[in-house]
Amino acid sequence: MSTDSTRGSEIVFTDVVKRYSGQAEPAVDHLDLTISAGEIVTFVGLSGCGKTTSLKMINRLIEPTSGAITIDGQDTRELDPDELRRGIGYVIQGGSLFPHMTVSANIAVVPRLLNWDRRRIRRRTDELLELVGLDPSVYRDRYPKELSGGQQQRVGVARGLAADPPVLLMDEPFGAVDPITRSRLQDELLDVQSKLHKTIVCVTHDIDEAIKLGDRILVMSEHGRIAQYDTASEILANPNDDFVADFTGSGSALKQLALEKVSSIHLEPAVLVHVGDPVPDVLTLAEEHGTNQVVVLDADDAIVDWYWTVTLRGSAVRARPGRRPVLLDEDAKLDTVLDTLVTSLHEGAIVVDERERFLGIATFDEVTAHVRRVNAAPGTIPEHDGPFPERVPSGGADRGREHP
Ligand SMILES: Nc1ncnc2c1ncn2[C@@H]1O[C@H](COP(=O)(O)OP(=O)(O)OP(=O)(O)O)[C@@H](O)[C@H]1O
Ligand SMILES: [Mg+2]
Repeated sequence: MSTDSTRGSEIVFTDVVKRYSGQAEPAVDHLDLTISAGEIVTFVGLSGCGKTTSLKMINRLIEPTSGAITIDGQDTRELDPDELRRGIGYVIQGGSLFPHMTVSANIAVVPRLLNWDRRRIRRRTDELLELVGLDPSVYRDRYPKELSGGQQQRVGVARGLAADPPVLLMDEPFGAVDPITRSRLQDELLDVQSKLHKTIVCVTHDIDEAIKLGDRILVMSEHGRIAQYDTASEILANPNDDFVADFTGSGSALKQLALEKVSSIHLEPAVLVHVGDPVPDVLTLAEEHGTNQVVVLDADDAIVDWYWTVTLRGSAVRARPGRRPVLLDEDAKLDTVLDTLVTSLHEGAIVVDERERFLGIATFDEVTAHVRRVNAAPGTIPEHDGPFPERVPSGGADRGREHP
């Protein structure tokens, strides 16, 4: 993906009201909201609260009754609506593709309106198909009915991004797919966003989706009122009122896990030793470092095993065949850590940096202790008890070599 693509724009609602004719109450009542450039903001709230109405006022698919919406300072009322919409990607549930057009023709709708030449359109559609994880040579000439729901949704996202708009609006984009595909599409959207830095406004019913995708979450109550507009961790830790607390629901400590990196818990130290090191020396070294855990490296310094000192047997350290320990990236989120530990049936997993060097051991006990601390202290962002553990032994993987 080119790096010179258009970055996100700031969107500002000022005192925006929408009254549908014949309705006693306004659908959106005096909404003031600033969406920062380059952020994903999720609108979440109960059915009928005004999410879609608020979203569609941004690209004037719905005209506000009063108030102003600006995009990068430009009042949208001063723009021709068609022109405005060509500069704003719009993705809705199911992808809403034109059934009689191929995948590439669907993606190219806006570029064609913009009179791009054929070669540029072809390059762009292939680039976008790759970006959303569909092989262009396989999918570009298919029709929507020849795609799965999740694939149609990806094409919908590709179409929304086709003309490289600074703003992407999404309304329940992943609502129609199964939970696993949905989670993969969410991951892909986040991956795409990490490259493109668009301003994305995404409407959802699903608080978990809102938390996962949103840099900021707008919890909406009736008539488009802002119950809370904040980062996920702030909303989970400090809900403004009972409505927000009820909406974010029980288990908020568990939801919090999806936001925190493994580096936010205490990682246990271990000594690093090599296959073949004499066991008595390893025991002495572990005692010197006040740890009862031993991480075993092979001749290439790759991590191959992990022992409690009490289980060390024989005269020299061995790596048990087939016992590759579970390695976790230091950026892994705590929900992934918990999943990994539960599914691998290990008590702990080894946290490594991007070069797979040992940083510490994340244990099941530490993750659960962390959840308990979050539960015990609502309203605070938890911190682990001690300082971040030093790498043990200092000097990293080479240290084991100096000893035996
Ligand atoms: N075209 C319309 N004419 C009259 N009333 C409308 C119209 N569109 C929406 N409304 C009303 O405006 C309110 C807000 O609707 P909106 O579609 O914005 O809700 P929403 O939060 O997107 O709900 P959902 O989660 O069910 O999609 C609702 O009470 C709805 O009945
Ligand atoms: Mg809606």
